[in-house]
Amino acid sequence: MASVPNSDELIFFVNGRKVIEKNADPEVNLLYYLRKVLYLTGTKYSCGGGGCGACTVMVSRYNPKTKKIHHSPVTACLVPVCSLYGAAVTTVEGVGSIGTRIHPVQERLAKCHGTQCGFCSPGMVMSIYTLLRNHPQPTLEQITKALGGNLCRCTGYRPIVESGKHFCAESTVCGLKGSGKCCMDQEERSFVNRQEQMCTKLYNEDEFQPLDPSQEPIFPPELIRMAEDPNKRRLTFQGERTTWIAPVTLSDLLELKANFPEAPLIMGNTAVGPSIKFRDEFHPIFISPLGLPELYFVDYTDDGVTIGAGCSLAQLNDALHLTVLEQPQEKTKTYRALLKHLRTLAGAQIRNMATLGGHVVSRPNFSDLNPILAAGNATINLISKEGDRQIPLNGHFLERSPEACLKSEEIVLSVYIPHSTQWHFVSGLRLAQRQENAFAIVNAGMSVKFEDGTDTIKDLKMFYGSVGPTVVSASQTCKQLIGRLWDDHMLSDACRWVLEEIHIPPAAEGGMVEYRRTLIISLLFKFYLKVRRGLNKMDPQKFSDIPERFMSALEDFPIKTPQGIQMFQCVDPYQSPQDPVGHPVMHQSAIKHATGEAVFSDDMPPIAQELFLAVTTSTRTHAKIISIDASEALALPGVVDVITAEDVPGDNNHRGEVFYAQNEVICVGQIVCTVAADTYAHAREAAKKVKITYEDVEPRIITIEQALKHNSFFSIEKKVEQGNVEEAFKYVDQIIEGEAHVEGQEHFYMETQTILVIPKQEDREMVLYLGTQFPSHVQEFVAVALNIPRSRIACHVKRTGGGFGGKVTKPAVLAAISAVAANKTGCPIRFILERGDDMLITAGRHPLLGKYKIGFMNNGVIKAADVEYYINGGCTPDESESVTEFIVLKSDNAYYIPNFRCRGRPCKTNLPSNTAFRGYGFPQAAVVVEAYITAVASHCNLSPEEVKEINMYKTINETTYKQTFNPEPLRRCWKECLEKSSFSARKLAAEEFNKKNYWKKRGLAVVPMKFTVGFPVAYYNQAAALVHIYLDGSVLVAHGGCEMGQGLHTKMIQVASRELNIPRSYIHLSETSTVTVPNASFTAASMGTDINGKAVQNACQILMARLQPIIRKNPKGRWEEWVAEAFEESISLSTTGYFKGYQTYMDWEKEKGDPYPYYVYGASCSEVEVDCLTGAHKLLRTDIFMDAAFSINPAVDIGQIEGAFVQGMGFYTIEELKYSPEGVLHSRSPDDYKIPTVTEIPEEFYVTLVHSRNPTAIYSSKGLGEAGMFLGSSVLFAIFDAVTAARKERGLTTTFTLNSPATPEFIRMTCVDQFTDMIPRDDPSTFTPWSIHVS
Ligand SMILES: Cc1cc2nc3c(=O)[nH]c(=O)nc-3n(C[C@H](O)[C@H](O)[C@H](O)COP(=O)(O)OP(=O)(O)OC[C@H]3O[C@@H](n4cnc5c(N)ncnc54)[C@H](O)[C@@H]3O)c2cc1C
Ligand code: FES
Ligand code: FES
Repeated sequence: MASVPNSDELIFFVNGRKVIEKNADPEVNLLYYLRKVLYLTGTKYSCGGGGCGACTVMVSRYNPKTKKIHHSPVTACLVPVCSLYGAAVTTVEGVGSIGTRIHPVQERLAKCHGTQCGFCSPGMVMSIYTLLRNHPQPTLEQITKALGGNLCRCTGYRPIVESGKHFCAESTVCGLKGSGKCCMDQEERSFVNRQEQMCTKLYNEDEFQPLDPSQEPIFPPELIRMAEDPNKRRLTFQGERTTWIAPVTLSDLLELKANFPEAPLIMGNTAVGPSIKFRDEFHPIFISPLGLPELYFVDYTDDGVTIGAGCSLAQLNDALHLTVLEQPQEKTKTYRALLKHLRTLAGAQIRNMATLGGHVVSRPNFSDLNPILAAGNATINLISKEGDRQIPLNGHFLERSPEACLKSEEIVLSVYIPHSTQWHFVSGLRLAQRQENAFAIVNAGMSVKFEDGTDTIKDLKMFYGSVGPTVVSASQTCKQLIGRLWDDHMLSDACRWVLEEIHIPPAAEGGMVEYRRTLIISLLFKFYLKVRRGLNKMDPQKFSDIPERFMSALEDFPIKTPQGIQMFQCVDPYQSPQDPVGHPVMHQSAIKHATGEAVFSDDMPPIAQELFLAVTTSTRTHAKIISIDASEALALPGVVDVITAEDVPGDNNHRGEVFYAQNEVICVGQIVCTVAADTYAHAREAAKKVKITYEDVEPRIITIEQALKHNSFFSIEKKVEQGNVEEAFKYVDQIIEGEAHVEGQEHFYMETQTILVIPKQEDREMVLYLGTQFPSHVQEFVAVALNIPRSRIACHVKRTGGGFGGKVTKPAVLAAISAVAANKTGCPIRFILERGDDMLITAGRHPLLGKYKIGFMNNGVIKAADVEYYINGGCTPDESESVTEFIVLKSDNAYYIPNFRCRGRPCKTNLPSNTAFRGYGFPQAAVVVEAYITAVASHCNLSPEEVKEINMYKTINETTYKQTFNPEPLRRCWKECLEKSSFSARKLAAEEFNKKNYWKKRGLAVVPMKFTVGFPVAYYNQAAALVHIYLDGSVLVAHGGCEMGQGLHTKMIQVASRELNIPRSYIHLSETSTVTVPNASFTAASMGTDINGKAVQNACQILMARLQPIIRKNPKGRWEEWVAEAFEESISLSTTGYFKGYQTYMDWEKEKGDPYPYYVYGASCSEVEVDCLTGAHKLLRTDIFMDAAFSINPAVDIGQIEGAFVQGMGFYTIEELKYSPEGVLHSRSPDDYKIPTVTEIPEEFYVTLVHSRNPTAIYSSKGLGEAGMFLGSSVLFAIFDAVTAARKERGLTTTFTLNSPATPEFIRMTCVDQFTDMIPRDDPSTFTPWSIHVS
């Protein structure tokens, strides 16, 4: 931090060490300070906006009033470092480390297999650790609650929750499939063993160290002294552009506020922080009254509770909870409504940071609390130098009427929330894309007061959030209803009037207009029911109850702690105990992940003279670049250079991928230039100042439909065909034609794209450290951009914080861009994409349109299918052609259709270029297959399962492209899935439930899967390894595969251990590099272990062959002795290993081939419950049966299956990319793109690895990295099943378009009812919607 005069010293502690910062800058956040100033890189950056939890740390403060120490989890990215005066910060490094002592939290997370890529792990550790500091024996609920603000994209959360459960005081009984027994129980386990020779034990909890709270570091006594110092004085921290002032008395605060009325009060910084970061707000002065005693109090009186404005939402929660326990129910309706929303508002970190005062004053339009506070007649106590006053927290305040607002010199001292009364009902209602940690799509606070003893409305209040720029009050409607009885007529009028009063314009920001309109009245209806039920409870004689079938509409889905069992084949008891193959070995870096010692690219220390890179991207869809004016950017402090296409010494366009836009831009988000500066903040500021002028060019193609219209494709059509499709259509009983749209998906790897390029002085060498799945591709692109031989470019990949396909091709383009900057400036370049840029620039899964014509008999037998697929490839070729080929080749999924034609074509559009994503087209295409199977079932009056069974491959068969395969494992997975999930019985139970419940419906679905690994191009399947044996007997293994969390290196160590017959501890695997293994293929297509395993095996076998004569001479010798002897006999102890690859091919001309080495089969059954009124759904249970053949590492494989399933479930349900009609991606952060959290995963989650044989792959294993993704569609189809039940009951047709994702919007709008019928509809030709579908 630069030195500035007149600044106080900032004193705080980090991990027990005192930090004295003489130049504290108010613009610097704790995350930056930890990582870049203190070099504590365990805490990770992933979103920068408080939305992911990767940066979670614990902040502890001493309260001199209560003499207590409070520990809070916070997201360091939103904590201004200046706010930490007097605080003790604990980071993952302070919790435990390998060098000192690993903390039980870290140990259990690692050993329970709760880490994969490890990027989220430090945040997870900190969330659980902080919980344990406050509650050493937490409840199960507290564990789930503590993790709600932490995203993980790899594991599917189950093992993370499980690691936390081991700390719980209460029993962690899993309730083994409803038996009330536990899988952790020895007897139960052996029961399972005896029956199926299966294991369920993925780790040994007996190894866990006990938690000993007395071992935790003490709070620094110096901070206690500082807090108790009676002579505390105002502090001022002067930064480069801003000043931070921290008053210590209320009068000082009021003085400051009078002097600087425009300065924000920084409390939790969860509203101001994001506004500065994402909306370019600037404040020269910040006032921070954090810790001012007058703002922190709770005052319980006879008629209500007054809560200090400085209390965090977590403290508010505790205070209300206490009141609810102590007061009679009738007085606590407002508190209970608030508590309900406080449970799901953001995650634990934000709830601990955000304050009540900050929440009330910032008045977010999506506020979950303000509508309830207003409905509950809360008032705000204000104070200024001029005196104090109260204002009502009412509609005028929330709608920001100037006369109802705070004066700029006023502050909120507290908020008073009165008790509710006997004939008074208060409720909070909300619906969000995800149950927890998601802004509401619509929320509401409602209250009604009746004339005593009657249901005549005396007062009514309705406030809605997320329906406009502010929370709005339906005051006119409420006024009109005064005096009315609480009956159906009133409801009907209320719905009509509220829709007239609250108008969401058709082009409103946020979209989902008709859905939001529907929610306005659906939530009102819920309130209506709740009140009627409440009245009935008060006087059953006078007020009739609501129908029994409506009861379940009253409650939101409960949040439960997930549980489950994982089953896998036990290893052969005769296998050598030293041989780790087949054992659930922990990820080789798991402990390092959990301690934060695993080094990711941006964790590498700064390099002398390094510069940071920021991007300026295109704001136009398709336009000519007229000029680029960088003069203003270049003039800014710290800026070294602006780099454009003109600076590329080699080719700026390679394989159709453009590095820097040249002459034209072809999508919004294309990189036009980069700015290199001494800090990222400087680079970013400058990048915003680059002025680019454009001239729009036609056409601008965004959607597949537009691409078809313009005949805009990347390649010719790919086709496979069998039988005689046209002829077969003539003889079928029925023909259906339809379409299915599947939208795209964002990878959302937790580590954004990260590249460190170091230009060398000599020979134009470049060294790159980055996260990629394809280092040789990076090498190729950099060589081409710089016009130097590849041999001078070294790419190193230690590990990657998640890839999922998003780091196959994209890092090469970004590396080329960075290398050009390094080449031009001569300086090392650090290029870390911010989350928003990453989402915008790198795109994701291809949106897909499937069109089908299906001919079938009335008994459900499908005779003919003609299917066309189109994918939205975006603006450059990337891998769209090969994704199309995969789609076409895999388009039969598990079904034999004798007359079958499938065609596919990638569309060229003006969106950022879509790329590889786990499953590579299959998860999109197979949904279309399941959709038409479901449609056939509906037309034949059969269940989808019957039609699936009828048409499923049954015996050894040939695919459409004439590859022979044996579907026996498919049949087994399918059968076991149906049986073990008790599908039929549960289906009946769901039907019963549906009969009894009108507004909630349950649905079940089973999907079968035939998937593939590898590539139809033989040379892609080759791999090499390099194994060195050193003279102390230690072994270094290198291979061409990249570790991105999938446990590849762990499995490679298992392979080497078996082949060399030495313990794993002898073997080290350091990194992947183009220096050790050249020309390696990508780590993708589920074949990482297959091909690299064979290469490692080959190398080890070569070495063992060399050692054999020595071993024979001294069979009882030790490994070290043999190695020493070999060296003395001049036997080489190093070799490469090679695997030529599977000899796959596909002849598209002949439509014939052997494109895949083998198939992976599976089946999954899911059960959901949907709320027809809101569109929310709850995943009750999932059973997965996956053909793993022989699993080399069941923990890793189950982790892949569960992680992929949850990622798939997200894709098919809640993950929704929003594009404007001009192709601008709106969803660029975890705030507006929702991946699953711990609350979305199945309440019961059972995974079984089914044993089969696979002689093709190493140790008869199978590649399982991607297969689980499609199984997530069982949730989609279970939702359809539930929606179908609702539609049937409402007398609607049961054939409706099955699109993906089945979002709450889709569910609600498909469950058509009187409310959806009531909303105003707009003529689509009269407005431009905020967002469109691009599939
Ligand atoms: C990741 C994330 C998720 C979120 N999810 C939700 C959600 O699901 N639902 C929801 O309702 N909200 C959500 N929020 C919003 C959150 O509730 C608010 O940002 C928060 O309550 C603001 O409080 P704060 O203390 O952080 O305010 P700050 O950012 O510190 O201040 C906000 C504003 O209030 C003013 N202010 C603060 N205190 C006072 C005072 N005592 N007197 C006068 N002015 C004052 C400041 O001057 C400033 O203008 C989320 C926020 C984040 C970052
Ligand atoms: S990086 Fe801080 S919450 Fe995501
Ligand atoms: S392990 Fe959680 S994000 Fe990778």
